[in-house]
Formats: sequence, structure tokens, C-alpha cells
Amino acid sequence: MQRLVIRGEKRLCGEIAVQGAKNSALALLAGCTLCSGEVRLKNCPALSDVFAACRILNRLGCKSRYKDHCAVIDARGMCECAVPEELMREMRSSIVFLGAVLGRKGECELSFPGGCELGPRPIDMHLSALRQMGARITEEYGVLCCECPTGLRGAKISLGFPSVGATENIMLAAVLAKGETVITNAAREPEITDLGDFLNCCGARVSGHGTSSIVISGVERLHGCEYEVMPDRIVAATYMAGAAITGGELELKNARAGDLEAVVPVFEQMGCRVYTYDDRIYINSKKPLRAVKTIRTMPYPGFPTDAQAVVMAALTKAKGTSVVVENIFCSRYRHVDELVRMGADIKTEGKVAVIEGVKKLYGARVRACELRGGAALVLAGLGAQGETEVENICYIDRGYENIEKHLRLAGADITRVMC
Ligand code: UD1
Repeated sequence: MQRLVIRGEKRLCGEIAVQGAKNSALALLAGCTLCSGEVRLKNCPALSDVFAACRILNRLGCKSRYKDHCAVIDARGMCECAVPEELMREMRSSIVFLGAVLGRKGECELSFPGGCELGPRPIDMHLSALRQMGARITEEYGVLCCECPTGLRGAKISLGFPSVGATENIMLAAVLAKGETVITNAAREPEITDLGDFLNCCGARVSGHGTSSIVISGVERLHGCEYEVMPDRIVAATYMAGAAITGGELELKNARAGDLEAVVPVFEQMGCRVYTYDDRIYINSKKPLRAVKTIRTMPYPGFPTDAQAVVMAALTKAKGTSVVVENIFCSRYRHVDELVRMGADIKTEGKVAVIEGVKKLYGARVRACELRGGAALVLAGLGAQGETEVENICYIDRGYENIEKHLRLAGADITRVMC
């Protein structure tokens, strides 16, 4: 067990290179199973979730190796179609392998992912879409058995909610299916655009990705390719919040402001100066932070739920009252009690959190309960007087590559220690 020890109130200053996007890399790694040729994924972040996805690929009979942010996957020898339970448990988002393995092998067996740190995570939309494409799915003792002996066929699928995971699973299942698949009310997140671009790079025929209507015309086979994973927009938002809460000044390299159009204005309302370029973002926070208008998390292009906790950390020190409404997940305020232990004034009721800005946060021993909430505690520690210890940082390591190294290079006093 490891923890992060932070001595706060040091301004973040300098340059941080933003890592590749975890959520995109995971979908792309699942997509590799569909390719009859070697795939080289560059800018692939060195994260525990990425390594878990590589272990799944190996277990399926693919060859995977990882070096210097490049994952090389060869799925030509893929011989298995079952993802063992212990690997499913390691990473809930491995559900994205369902559509890919089914598309490649015509069958797939994996354990039901169940709930997670963010509350119940149903997959009804994933399953109903795959059924519309001809899959027979049964569930026994928590194991999902999916098969389509005559292959998947294209279908018109209308999602009740633009689920990111369901959209990815349908895209992955559809690229090698017979005929055309049309997804309406599809998720529009940049990671979906990245997945569509990657699949096209491998010879797929996907169009409309990035809009709410995606059309996939099935092809016979996909080949290998070299592809660069998009930058992580949530990691970029996290470091922006770090600059805000410490009154700092950061230049984020490899950050696409176009993916953060709902987030940048929130920092501007807080009083930060933000300058955006195609591939980098500059932020400085010279004035005391101010409260912002109500933030409502929404599917893209709305404010991302994944940035809610880290932005909230900065708002704890913003003068006035800010309100956050969490519309995507029902259990996404688990960081609040820990922030309150550090002196924050936050009240929650259902979806709503009301944050009264305080003058000071105070270092405390706190515990990460999930990935983004854990990052929020690190930020609060950077902005707090005295010493903060963040425990349970395995959650943070799932999404942030070497967080302490990047923050230290920008002037933070933060160290990783064994418990
Ligand atoms: C993905 C991201 C996660 C992000 C989320 C929303 C990955 C690995 N994870 O998660 O970081 O917070 O998008 O942007 O990419 N739902 C159903 N039935 C379904 C599917 C989803 O009810 O079949 C509900 C979920 O419970 C949740 C909401 O829809 O309340 C959004 O979920 P979804 O967009 O599917 O998120 P994930 O793909 O799980």
C-alpha cells in the first residue's frame, strides 16, 4: 500500500506534458482484437488499467508488449473468447471487450461487471444493442455467455441515453458485422471520435463518429496500423484545477482545448486566465478564485462528470457559493466528506452539491475512494495549509501516470511513500 504525502500552499508553475487518454486507450486496445495484423498504439499511458487490458489480451491468446508508451498488439493468434473473472474484476471497463471479442470470434464469455465505486453500472443498453445485432446472450451465476453462430449483422440501434461504453461496444461489434449499423443518440465524446478514427485507420468504414448518428458499414477484415492515442482531457482538466487552487501558472503540452470547451469557461469564471492553442493550454491563476455559475454534468459536449471532482476541489477555495449538479452517476460525491475533513464547506443532497468557498483548507489524512475523487484530494492537499496524506492511491494510479512526478516538476512538495 502506498500513499501520497503533500505539503501544500506551493504554487504550481511550469510545464506539464499531458498523458494519452486512458478511456480512449482501453477501447482501442479492445479494438486490437479485431485486427489481422500488428497494431502499434503510441502515446498509450503507462497505467494499471492499460496493463490490465494487456493482460486480458494475452489471456485471449493475443501477443501484447508495452514499452516507452507504445503498446504493440498482435491478435492474429487469438484463440480464446472468455475473459476470466479476476481480470474483469480488476477493471470494470473491460466490458468493452464484449463487442470486440464477439465481433471477432462469434462468441464471448465474461463475468457480469456489477457495480463499482460510482454506484450501480448497468449494461442493459450494451446487451440490448448486441441482441439487435443477432447475439444470443444468457446470464448464469453472474457469467454472461454471448454467441452468434451465424455472425453479427448490422442493425438500426437507437440508444435511450448516449452511453459511452454502449456506443463503443456497438461500434466494435459492428465493424466486422454483415451490413450496415446505424447508432442514433450515440455518445459524442472525443474518445468515441478517437475509436472511430482508429478503426478507420485499420480499414473499417465508420462515419459520423463525434456526432449523435454513427454509421458503420461492415468490412471483411481489419488490418494492423500505427495510431497515436488522443491526449487525456480529464488529466488536462485536473492539472488546470491544480494551477487554479495553488494560484499557479501552468502550460499544458499535448492538451487539446477543443475537447474541453465546457471546462475552460469554468476556470475563466473562477478568475483564471486561460489561453488555448490546438495542442496546448496555458492557465494562470493570479487573482483569488471566485464562485461559478451552476455546473451541470452532461454527456459531451456538456461538462464531463469525470472533471466534476477535480473542479470541485478548486471551488472549495473560491469566494462565494458554487453549485454542482451531477447528472451522470448517482454516487459521485464520495470525495466530499474527505474534502470537508480538510476544512471545505460542502453540502450535498441527491444530485446537488453546494460549495461555500473557504479562505483556507487544512492538511489531513484522507482516503481516495475512486479515481477522480482521489485526484481531487491531491489537489486539495496542494492548496491546503500543512501536510495532507492521501491513502488508497491505487485508484489514482488507474488514471494518472506518475502524478507526483509531474506535480513535483511543477513545484509541488509531494512524495509517494509506502504505508
Ligand atoms: C465512460 C467512462 C467514464 C465516464 C463515463 C461518462 C470509460 C472507460 N469510462 O464510462 O470515465 O465517467 O463514460 O462520461 O470510458 N447506463 C445505463 N445502462 C447502460 C449503460 C450506461 O443505465 O447499459 C448509465 C450508467 O449507469 C451511467 C450513465 O448511463 O449512469 C453513463 O454511463 P456510460 O456513458 O455508459 O459510462 P461508461 O461507458 O461506463
